[in-house]
Parts: sequence; structure tokens; C-alpha cells
Amino acid sequence: MNERLWIHQEIDLPDEFDVKEDKLFYRNIDLLKLAKDYGSPLRFTYLPVISNQIEMMKMYFQKAIERTDYQGKYSYYYCTKSSHFEHILKKAIQSDIGIEISSAYDIDLIRSLIKAGNITSRTPIICNGYKTPEYQAGITAMIQQGYCSVMPIIDSKAELLYYLQESKGLAPIRIGIRLNLSFIAGYDRKSRFGLSAEDILSFYQQEISKNEKLELSTLHFFNEKGMDNSDDYWNVLEEIVRFYCQLKRLNPKLTTLDIGGGMPFRSHISSDFDLSFLVYRIISTVQTICHEATVLEPNIITEFGKYTVAEATGTIFRICEKKTADEFNWAIIDGSFITHLPDTWAIHQEYPVLPINNWAKNLKPFILGGLTCDSADYYPNVPENEFIMLPDTEEEQFIAFLHTGAYQEALSGFGGVNHCLIPSPKHLIIDRNPNSILEYTVFSEKQNSEQLLNILGYH
Ligand SMILES: Cc1ncc(COP(=O)(O)O)c(C=O)c1O
Repeated sequence: MNERLWIHQEIDLPDEFDVKEDKLFYRNIDLLKLAKDYGSPLRFTYLPVISNQIEMMKMYFQKAIERTDYQGKYSYYYCTKSSHFEHILKKAIQSDIGIEISSAYDIDLIRSLIKAGNITSRTPIICNGYKTPEYQAGITAMIQQGYCSVMPIIDSKAELLYYLQESKGLAPIRIGIRLNLSFIAGYDRKSRFGLSAEDILSFYQQEISKNEKLELSTLHFFNEKGMDNSDDYWNVLEEIVRFYCQLKRLNPKLTTLDIGGGMPFRSHISSDFDLSFLVYRIISTVQTICHEATVLEPNIITEFGKYTVAEATGTIFRICEKKTADEFNWAIIDGSFITHLPDTWAIHQEYPVLPINNWAKNLKPFILGGLTCDSADYYPNVPENEFIMLPDTEEEQFIAFLHTGAYQEALSGFGGVNHCLIPSPKHLIIDRNPNSILEYTVFSEKQNSEQLLNILGYH
């Protein structure tokens, strides 16, 4: 059965969902009460999910390492760009992880976390992405100031040349280098990231190996197609590990393979992707190829963004009106997909969507419409004609989009001006105190018109 046409009586909801008195509860949170108490549209972030996700992933790696007697160590890094908020970072780093950053202002974010005592100057920081002069200067300043665990990942020849120059005045530094994946047959994405395999080998031999201040410890890649368990993913991983072995033979200081992000989150209610098997296969693939090449297995780093944060956040909308147009049943939400969940529009991302109330009513198929004037502001925004099943009632109706915590605020420019002046919604943070009691904090109110007009120069 097409998942979007599910009938709730016929599908088992996963453990974190519950329906009581015809209302949806998510991780024991009464979503109708949230909608009524705080209004809609409403973004809510339930912080304990972040710790759970990290702990689960560490456990999967630990088990795979034990099962295969893998000789390398595993380190979890959180990729800040998937959600930069302080409450997210503060929660994530409680699980003893490293942080992966990607731009100049991220350096200030790190400094702010250090200043507040949330991390120390020893917390591992990986500096990824393209380095503008401002970003490069920020990284160098941190290294000079004794942040011993800051490691730049070289993304271009210009950046490598910069460190070859700059390293003269620095204490020895560890660097990583990003491998451009376009040399791999079957990797059909355009990729501007990193250096080619050929360039890495020749730069290592001609420059890095002769520079005693630079230690190339890490090879990094990021398969942007994600860890989807497809043949393509495994082919790419195998090629990269073979390249790692080739580089390791030249460079004994190479110890670590940073396999990037891409661990999936649950984007459908019934997703049952076996992440522990995926992790086991990653570890055993790396191990097998290293054994064949008689090369020591590398330490493994991951930089999981969406896996860490997506499932911690949900977005609640109210249905303003139901109407029939263009032969379809439309349900107009009190928000916008383009501005509140931009990935639904930009990359046709799907999320688990469920009605919050009226569960006893019969269901009817609808397309959800957003408030902007843009004809593309609807969901599901997929080429096929697909629908969301909503209770067939004229009573007040709320719906929840779940697992929306990655990238959406940043892509929609949280707190800025959005299409058709649709305001950023109220954002609520939910945590459990040491006695497991739920605590609610309003992080930000719904943007008001004065704030928007101010940005636009109407003082
Ligand atoms: C270099 C790098 N690492 C990690 C990530 C995180 O990816 P994901 O959110 O898919 O885990 C990204 C995302 O763009 C990235 O560019």
C-alpha cells in the first residue's frame, strides 16, 4: 500500500507514537495540548532525542567493532550546519562527541561554547568546507591559541598552499584532506569538493611529506547521496578504502578515515532501515579491504547531521480551511512549506505526517497547501499524485510534521524575511528534568510584523 495513503487502523505506529482519546501523543507529549497552549504554527524540539540518537549510534559502532575485532577506534562528530542552535549543541556535546564546523562564523560559535564552559579547548573540532580568508584566519588563530584538537580538512589546493606557508610559524598541526569523489566510476554527482586522488598523492609526496610541521592524519570524503545501503554506496566506499590503503603505504602518519555524514533519519512513519546492520557493513567493508592490502585499519570518524537532530523536532500546523479546487481536495495550513519546511519544496523531502486530533473520524485524501502565493507551496511535493489522509470533519484540525529538525531553520533563514512575509513560527524547547518531568521553554516567539518591517527598512 502506498504509505501516504495509509489508514491508521491498518498500520502499527512506531513505539514513540500513541493515540489516546482520539489524540496523537508523541514521546508521551500531548500534541493537541501543545497546539492549544502555545498556538500554531509551532516548532517544538524534544531534546532527549539527541542524546538517544548519539548513544545508539555509538553503540552500533561499538558492537560492530567488537564483533569484527576491528583494530581502529570510532569517534562521533556532530555537524553544526544541520542545526546551529545553542540548545542543540549543548545537548549533543553532553554525549562526549567532537564537533564538525563549516564556516567562519562557526569559529565564533565554538568560542562561545568554550567561553560558557560547555566545551573545552581540548574538544575535537574538525574544520570542514571551503575556507575563505576569514575562516582560515579563524582556524589558524585557534591553533595558535593552543586549541590542540582543531583540525582543518583541506578542501582545495589553495588551502593546502596556505597551510604550507602558515605552518612555518605554527606548532606542528594535524590536517585532514578531502577526497573528491568524481574519479570513482558510477559516482554521477557533480562535485566541487576536495582534491582529486592524483593531486593528493602528488601533494603528499612533493610537499606534505617534506614539511615537518604538517601531519596528514585523516582522509575525508562525503558521499552526498547518503548512506542508503545501495550498491552504489558500497562501491564508492570500497574505492575510497582502497585509496586510503594506497595513501597509508606512503604516509605512515595517516591513521583516520572520516566517512562524513549521510546517516539517514526516519522520513516515513514506517521506515525500518536497519542502522546497526549498515554500521556493521561499513566496519567490515573497511576491515576486509585493509586486510587484503595488509594495512592497519583506520580509526573511523563520522559527521552525522540530520541523523543527530532531525527526529528531535516536529512542526505543528492548523488546517485553516478545506476546499476543493482543480479536482483535488486541498487543506490549507496556517504556515508554508516553502518557508517553514523548505526541503519539502527544494529537494522533495518527505516527513512523517499525522493528524493530531479527530482520530475516530473517517479519513479522506487531501493535498496540503501553504499560505504563500507560490503554486509550488504544497505537500506532498512529488511528481506522482499523492495525498495525505486527514480526518473527514469540519471540526478544528491540527497536523504534525515530525522529524523536521535538520536544516529547515537555517535554510529558511530563521528570524529573517521570508516569502510573502510569512513569519518564523514560535519555537518551543522541551526537555526532561533530572526527575524525568517534562519542562517547556519558549525559545522564540512567532516573529511579529515590526521585526519583519524593521529588517526591510521600515523604521
Ligand atoms: C562535509 C559534510 N559533513 C557532514 C554533513 C552532514 O550530512 P548529514 O546531515 O547528511 O549527516 C554534511 C552536509 O552537508 C557535509 O557537507
